[in-house]
Amino acid sequence: MFNSIEEKNNDKFASTNGNNISNRKDDHIREASAQFNSQVNFFEDCKPVHRTLNNVNANTIDLSTDVFDLHLDFPIFINAMTGGSDLALEVNRKLAILARECGLAMASGSLSSAIKKPETIKSYTVIREENPNGIILANVGAEQSLENTNKIIDIISADALQIHLNAPQELVMPEGDRDFSNYSENLKHLIDNINIPVIVKEVGFGMSRDTISKLIKLGSKNIDISGSGGTNFIKIENSRRTSQEFSYLDDFGIDTLASLLEAQQYIDQVNIIASGGIKSPYDAFKCFALGAKAVGASAFFLNQVNTYPIEVAIENVNLFKEELKIIFAIYSCANLKDAQNVSLVISGRAREWAEARGIE
Ligand code: FNR
Repeated sequence: MFNSIEEKNNDKFASTNGNNISNRKDDHIREASAQFNSQVNFFEDCKPVHRTLNNVNANTIDLSTDVFDLHLDFPIFINAMTGGSDLALEVNRKLAILARECGLAMASGSLSSAIKKPETIKSYTVIREENPNGIILANVGAEQSLENTNKIIDIISADALQIHLNAPQELVMPEGDRDFSNYSENLKHLIDNINIPVIVKEVGFGMSRDTISKLIKLGSKNIDISGSGGTNFIKIENSRRTSQEFSYLDDFGIDTLASLLEAQQYIDQVNIIASGGIKSPYDAFKCFALGAKAVGASAFFLNQVNTYPIEVAIENVNLFKEELKIIFAIYSCANLKDAQNVSLVISGRAREWAEARGIE
């Protein structure tokens, strides 16, 4: 992913060990899939309290949401993943079909290589070709120029833009970026000048309330806290090299549930979006109960299109949608707003986190 690095990888390693952008993208897809079944997170430390005296009609649950200035019929979306290789093209084609058939918004993987390596452009445009009327989000790094970002938006006729912050991932790579001193300034420049809705996102290491507060000050209206406990890019990068220099950082980051606890004081000021380790409708429901306006999942959808024929993946995702409605009904919630009024019992590691951080 994350293209400034890809270019450097390409420059540094293409002639010595055959590494290149496509290999890198393909490794990310393979490693993220391999990690999927062994992820550990705090979701089980959150228990919603159901209302025995239920008062909803399960046939009329409305899970639509207004977020990043768009109306989504369903509040779960396919979060940023890939592009830039032949394998990525096929994955993006399947994800786009899944998005179209299941009525989900979808984010592209980082599009910088579409500019730097125009021959890879089809691996991104396939997302729009397969889903001409869908809601599609473009994705760039916070270092990207305004000019390139506007080009990137045009490539897939994006409805909104995700800007990712991925310093930890850059730093654990020998050839990754080292200088983030311009990130805040450039991020603000992008937020102020891009003409479509902007979402600032993590990539699976979560956000603290201080970060959220700073992003709000920079003008962010939509923040995807993308927490740890799901896809782990430090682990992925470790597994891509022979010496695992950073294996002691395997549990680095702020868990998704902990990030949502960190976000509580900002829930009414900004659209908080949750992602990181979402595997079930119940995980997603807990995020909505903690105030998320939408929930993104990457590895879950990747796993679907990698494991099953597309028809089966579509059935599975439609089942996920139905089950999410049933969970809303079980907790007597007719919509996302109702979910925010459900009481939650927070225990275990999540509770320790909240106490240590002074979160009520
Ligand atoms: C990602 N992610 C990601 N994020 C981003 O902003 N730009 C990108 O290009 C990518 N690339 C990427 C590739 C692959 C294969 C995966 C699985 C993920 C991060 C992603 O959007 C999300 O923030 C994290 O993966 C956490 O969510 P999950 O995977 O635990 O649901």
